[in-house]
Amino acid sequence: MTRQDKDLPAGSFAIVTGASSGIGLELARCCAAKGCDLLIAADEPEIEAAAIELRKTGVDVRAIQVDLSTLEGVDRLVAACAGRPVDCLLANAGRGLGHGFLDENFTQAKLVLDTNVTGTIYLIHQVASHMRARGQGRILITGSIAGFMPGSYQAVYNGTKAFLDSFSMALRNELKDSGVTVSCLMPGPTDTEFFERADMLDTKVGQGKKADPAEVARIGFEAMLDGEGDVVAGWKNKLQVAMAKVTPASLLAEQHRKMAEPGSAKP
Ligand SMILES: NC(=O)c1ccc[n+]([C@@H]2O[C@H](COP(=O)([O-])OP(=O)(O)OC[C@H]3O[C@@H](n4cnc5c(N)ncnc54)[C@H](OP(=O)(O)O)[C@@H]3O)[C@@H](O)[C@H]2O)c1
Repeated sequence: MTRQDKDLPAGSFAIVTGASSGIGLELARCCAAKGCDLLIAADEPEIEAAAIELRKTGVDVRAIQVDLSTLEGVDRLVAACAGRPVDCLLANAGRGLGHGFLDENFTQAKLVLDTNVTGTIYLIHQVASHMRARGQGRILITGSIAGFMPGSYQAVYNGTKAFLDSFSMALRNELKDSGVTVSCLMPGPTDTEFFERADMLDTKVGQGKKADPAEVARIGFEAMLDGEGDVVAGWKNKLQVAMAKVTPASLLAEQHRKMAEPGSAKP
């Protein structure tokens, strides 16, 4: 594998998806702090406010409002690069969904699948092929420690993150001699809009202690610069992942139920 410098060369260009809030906004701030020009994307108009803030650092920032659950939305994002080579792709956009699977609105469940899985890997497919042709590039995928646990009352979401955690390591292996690195950031519960948007504020995990998104993003960004394969943010989460690897799946599903079942926040 071609060794990449830890620092990004001047004039580097990064795409950050889901950059309007939470971990993605913090990842975009990390890129901007390194002098990296940005193309940032999200589904709502708030992405423009993020761009205004990020431009104050002096880097060139373009914002695009696109639905990354659709192939058309991903095509629009790729077209917005206008042929500029992408040095870093931070594929972070994602959404959760609480409640029992049969009680979820299927359209919402499909949106989780289409955003977290189909849109994410289509974007990577489009951008990484150019990186491979150039013999250089960095990809950071936001997976989750949720990918290690069958997610009772969050079943579709955890399934999408299991997919991404696995996909990331497989793609990394396929690209190991190409000069393109693939890293996976696996956060645990993080203090963003995620739980409110997933309608999980009445759950134990929704009400529990959470990590600072700026710290989570810093850990992921550094892992990407170092070309690491995967990084679990926070020692408690590292412990949880280690335990999950030796715990029967049925027990993990039962543990997940206790923290994600609607109403589980009650004492
Ligand atoms: N928070 C946690 O506890 C946690 C833990 C592990 C992993 N993660 C992962 O971290 C990533 C970021 O989530 P977050 O916690 O920072 O939550 P967040 O604050 O809700 O941010 C999610 C971002 O993704 C964007 N997004 C969602 N669906 C989109 C779509 N269809 N098209 C375009 N953009 C879309 C959102 O933009 P709009 O608002 O415009 O839709 C927003 O910018 C997700 O992949 C999530 O699964 C979060």
